[in-house]
Parts: sequence; structure tokens; C-alpha cells
Amino acid sequence: MTSAETEVKSVLISEEEIKEAIAKTGKEISEKYKGKKLLVVGILKGSFVFVADLVREITIPCEVDFMAAKSYGSSTVSSGDVNITRDIASDLSGYNIIIAEDILDTGNTLSKVKRKLLERNPESLELIVLLDKPDRRTAEIEADKALFTIPDAFVVGYGLDYDEKYRNLKYIGVL
Ligand code: IMP
Ligand code: MG
Repeated sequence: MTSAETEVKSVLISEEEIKEAIAKTGKEISEKYKGKKLLVVGILKGSFVFVADLVREITIPCEVDFMAAKSYGSSTVSSGDVNITRDIASDLSGYNIIIAEDILDTGNTLSKVKRKLLERNPESLELIVLLDKPDRRTAEIEADKALFTIPDAFVVGYGLDYDEKYRNLKYIGVL
């Protein structure tokens, strides 16, 4: 066991479960957007693993880009104050956008990101999240697709961090 793993209390979602759900989602996306101009937008940093695995399960041409948003310091409570620190192209006309995010928690981050992208006139916009934590929602936003719905616990791994650590775990664990 690595030292990072020794502090994780339990595995909530295994590597196998994640793999299976992503393969299924990639297949659905490939069918739904066949013949369309597709752009997958990941939100850094948390979504980098999810996006890397998801786009490799997409079998149609697709572009990939990343935005960065910050709302957490080293605490486990969202500040509600969301900053976009890296943005993508300003004209999205003709593009079918999939926002791929690691987790929908309070919804503050995704509300702001979604609003920003809708202003740029994409052909369509869909929100796909790996994890949905509905108990903590304060903003009015729902995912079009959530691969897993989880209870109100602070989770790490598969891109998600606590104080910048644990992103490299292959599974989702509870601290
Ligand atoms: P929001 O509260 O929905 O705005 O979520 C903001 C960000 O907080 C997410 O994009 C994640 O990066 C992070 N976050 C929320 N819940 C968790 C968690 O349980 N573990 C790790 N990061 C989280
Ligand atoms: Mg995030």
C-alpha cells in the first residue's frame, strides 16, 4: 500500500465500476453526437482523469479542451466564490458541448461555468458529471447525466483531491 492510500477510510467506488460506467457513457455519447461537431470541456483540475478516460471511449471525432475553476482552498467546504482561471475559445457556435466534471456538489462552480458557455451560443450544451452529491446542492443546477450518485461524504481519488493530494488514486475513496 502507498502512503496516500493508508489514510483513505474506505473504497466507495472501485476502479472496475468506474471503468464500466465510463465505457457505457462513451458509447452513448458516440451514438448521440454522430455526425455532429463535438467538444468535450473538462473542468480542471478535478476532471483530468475522468476526461482522459471518457474521451478514449468516444468513437466519433471529438475535440477536447479544459477550463479551470477554483472554489476550494484546503478546506472541505465550498467558499461559494468561483473564479474561472483558465478559459476556452469565445465563439462556440456550431459546437455541441459536453461539460465533463468530476463532481456536482453545491453546484456553484458548474452554474457559473454553464452560464459562461451558454453565452457563447453553442449548438447544444450537456452536463455530464462522474459524481453527484445532491444533498449539498445550493445552486439551481442538475446534471444531464451523473455516472454515480453519492452520499454527503468528502471523497477523494480519480482526480479528486483533498489539499491537492489523492488525485492519483485509481478509485473513489472516503476520507
Ligand atoms: P461545487 O461545490 O459544486 O461548486 O464544487 C466545487 C468543487 O469542489 C468541485 O469541482 C470539486 O473539485 C470540489 N469538491 C466538491 N466535493 C468534493 C469532494 O467530496 N471531494 C473533493 N473535491 C470536492
Ligand atoms: Mg473540480
